[in-house]
Amino acid sequence: ESADVVVLGAGPAGLVLGVLLHTAGIDCVVLERASRTHVQTRARAGFLAPNTVRILERHGLADGLHSSGRRHGTCEFRTEDGRFRLDYGALGNGGHHHVYPQQNLVTDLLTHYLAIGGRIRFHTEAVVVRDADGTQPYVTTREPDGRPARWTARYVAGCDGRHGAARRSLPPGAVRHHQHDHGVTWLGLLAEAPPSLDAVGYAIHARGFAGHMARTQDVTRYYLQWQRGTPADSWSEQRIWDELDARMRAEDHGPLRRGGLLERAVFDLTCDVVEPLRHGSLFLAGDAASLLAPAAAKGANLAVLEAEILAEALTGALVRGDTTGLDTYSDRCLAHIWRAQEFTGWMTRLLHATSDTSDRDDHGAGSFFLAALQRSRLNSLRTSRIHQDWFAENYVGV
Ligand code: APR
Repeated sequence: ESADVVVLGAGPAGLVLGVLLHTAGIDCVVLERASRTHVQTRARAGFLAPNTVRILERHGLADGLHSSGRRHGTCEFRTEDGRFRLDYGALGNGGHHHVYPQQNLVTDLLTHYLAIGGRIRFHTEAVVVRDADGTQPYVTTREPDGRPARWTARYVAGCDGRHGAARRSLPPGAVRHHQHDHGVTWLGLLAEAPPSLDAVGYAIHARGFAGHMARTQDVTRYYLQWQRGTPADSWSEQRIWDELDARMRAEDHGPLRRGGLLERAVFDLTCDVVEPLRHGSLFLAGDAASLLAPAAAKGANLAVLEAEILAEALTGALVRGDTTGLDTYSDRCLAHIWRAQEFTGWMTRLLHATSDTSDRDDHGAGSFFLAALQRSRLNSLRTSRIHQDWFAENYVGV
């Protein structure tokens, strides 16, 4: 089988790209390894930046987030010196987030894509992209019935995440792969509980970081800084809630609303960038292009931005024979990616007194020296209006 553009992966990147290409009259297909139910129910990110909302609005994809997403513009830092709030929606450029769970966005995108007649194949795993630097690129797949197949294309868009076929298919030496380990591990939790505060909560504690992020009225995300290598199931739910209480200083600032833990996952705060985001006719977008630590919630926002840039570039090439957009795609996206990586790194050092070189104690918290730097960083953010404006601009910026 064939299509002018074969898109790998039906996450935010692949689906935005699919919708935009199909709308522009381009023959494309999305190949997705998982089932439709799986992609529509997988809980991931949830904070959409103003630019992301503008892109979705521009293409008629923002109805769901406007009707059931919530505008959000406050974060609260809790430290040993008390707590302070930043109404970032009223600072910097005055940008807010929309809190809208990623699986809802994916559902909206998919529904729209199918409604306009877009082609998508679920249970179809891309195995490898071949001949990306030749004249007839193709993707080998494992079809729903398990048989191998081949999709020929003029262009392939790798939107299949960090462990997808696109990255795997880059021949050694064709691109550079820059990696960085922030030296921090988180336990990510999804609790069946309403939010405990009307803000993003960042708790800085000698025992390690704890975070609170609203998702819906019934489900809330929490994070605990975690000892690297410790399995996710090694603590009881009771112990996890007690630790969240301690680090978020529930005694001083009010109790957390507890609930059953629907999901737990341990992940190291690592990040990477592929450079350039292209090998011949294979283009990377979203997590396949660059992975960001979740501290600043940039991943999904970059994915949507890159998908729009790539859609314009592919449309230019296929409709008008103008390949300028494809030639500049990588540089344009990398400028956004490095900016987001830089701010994410800064956030990571704001929230943790660890680095990849520091000694760590049993809880994963860092040395005295780094803790003192972190405290000073927080004090600057607490007291300097200019620093707050800078934070706000970067926090919602993509
Ligand atoms: N073949 C086909 N599909 C694949 C393959 C493969 N070999 N490997 C992975 N996929 C699919 C996954 O099942 C998933 O649906 O690719 C999709 C990638 O989607 P996401 O992981 O959501 O990535 P992306 O669209 O780049 O969006 C980035 O997702 O990781 C979160 O928080 C991150 O918010 C960010 C966003």
